[in-house]
Amino acid sequence: MNKKAMPVRRFAIASAIAIGALLFAAPGVTGADAPNPKARVAFQACAACHSDKAGVTRLGPSLAGIFGKPAAQAKGFRYSPALAKAKLRWDRKTLDAFIANPKAVVPGNRMSYPGVSDPAKRAAIIDYMQGLR
Ligand code: HEC
Repeated sequence: MNKKAMPVRRFAIASAIAIGALLFAAPGVTGADAPNPKARVAFQACAACHSDKAGVTRLGPSLAGIFGKPAAQAKGFRYSPALAKAKLRWDRKTLDAFIANPKAVVPGNRMSYPGVSDPAKRAAIIDYMQGLR
């Protein structure tokens, strides 16, 4: 086989799998069995500071159930004044921007995390969060 053709073919197969995963990412599934297999793995970047179980506070608030809600609503977590005052609702668009560059979207917030530059990884993380109850 032609050596140069290989990466292209691998890319095509990977793309087909990724598109398949997106098509199956229906709302209403729980994070734990989300059909996007990359979602759970991608969330590990956040899990050091964020639980996926409601009410469990780590360095940051639990991310369970925040999808679709206004920012800074987790009970028992002391948000920075910056995030508490941010008039944001967490939908795919705002989450995508925040995860890409937290400091740019909410200047002065206390999440010490530079952000995720890969859009596919951000999408997987948001899929996972969307499935959390
Ligand atoms: C080093 C710890 C740390 C990491 C890693 C981290 N976060 Fe955070 N995150 C925080 C803290 C602390 C806050 C609260 C910030 C504040 O009050 O200003 C926060 C807040 C948030 C909020 C707002 C929550 C709300 O209730 O409105 C979202 C959304 C969020 N993080 C998503 C993520 C995602 C997604 C990742 C992984 C890509 C991530 N974080 C990684 C510490 C972290």
